[in-house]
Amino acid sequence: MNLQLHSLSRAENDYDDLFRLDVLEGLRSSPKKLSSKYFYDKIGDHLFQKIMAMPDYYLTRCELDIFKNKTEELSRLIIPENEPFDLIELGAGDAMKSTFLLQHLIEKGVEFTYMPIDISGNILSILNEKLSKQFPTLEITCLEGDYFEMLHKAASLSDRRKVILFLGSNIGNMAMTEAEEFCLHLKHNLASEDKVLIGFDLQKNPHIILSAYNDREGITAAFNLNLLTRINRELDGDFDPDQFQHYQTYDPVSGACKSFLISLKNQNVRIGNDSIPFEEHELIDMEISQKFSPESIRELGEKSGFMINGEIKDSKGWFVDTIWQVP
Ligand code: AVJ
Repeated sequence: MNLQLHSLSRAENDYDDLFRLDVLEGLRSSPKKLSSKYFYDKIGDHLFQKIMAMPDYYLTRCELDIFKNKTEELSRLIIPENEPFDLIELGAGDAMKSTFLLQHLIEKGVEFTYMPIDISGNILSILNEKLSKQFPTLEITCLEGDYFEMLHKAASLSDRRKVILFLGSNIGNMAMTEAEEFCLHLKHNLASEDKVLIGFDLQKNPHIILSAYNDREGITAAFNLNLLTRINRELDGDFDPDQFQHYQTYDPVSGACKSFLISLKNQNVRIGNDSIPFEEHELIDMEISQKFSPESIRELGEKSGFMINGEIKDSKGWFVDTIWQVP
């Protein structure tokens, strides 16, 4: 048994302050905005698990197909020589997909440490427990916090070649220009020969995409509205979630799949000592889930200075895991 838990979280006050500043700044912008990175409290984690289990939410199953059925191809792309390395996963969540890769690497006898990074300490402790039971010999270092802060931390703990996993089309939560900055920043934090494996959801029949985010049971709506409840609880707010309605759009030209909350009446919402006015029909921009074309992926890799190693698609061709290398 070789298990480590380095859970390095910010002081809670610092985190609350950042959350409050972010929320107030967003709600004072025009159009109003909240960041989907705050969706993932305990209830949000649970709702996202329910989303992943929905028949219409194809993303998880497509990427699972890759990790389950093309594991050898994947492992050959990320460590062609089976040399010792460290596997860092950004936004690991429950690591449902990467577990198949972990198992494959362990069976091959590859020497590596798995370092999952997540903003949710809750999901990390669940993951830690699950993995230590399933793979008693696996070395795990859990890192709780912001991607780059923890990537820094991970780099200071590792002196081997690094492979970064960024799965699930999490990168789609950034606008295109942000994704470019993110990839540049990622490259700057890595060394020559290090690799990244990024999952991208591809553009496809717009009906298929919209259905994944516009479910009838309202799970995605609840996922969005939960952020208002979180603000009420953690920032002493008085949002009435019944006075906001979820609205989902997909623009097949730009590939942007976006969610909004609509204010159903004129209302003032208090957050701590601050008051935010809403007009009837006013929107809060909640989340973007960008869908990519093969060209936009190639362009993103090249613009940020990576070398393209290869890519693996699921059997339907709906989702792609791309492997890039720092030259
Ligand atoms: C976790 C960011 C990949 O954008 O598809 C699912 C989050 N939002 N349904 C996505 C989400 C609404 C998801 N990611």
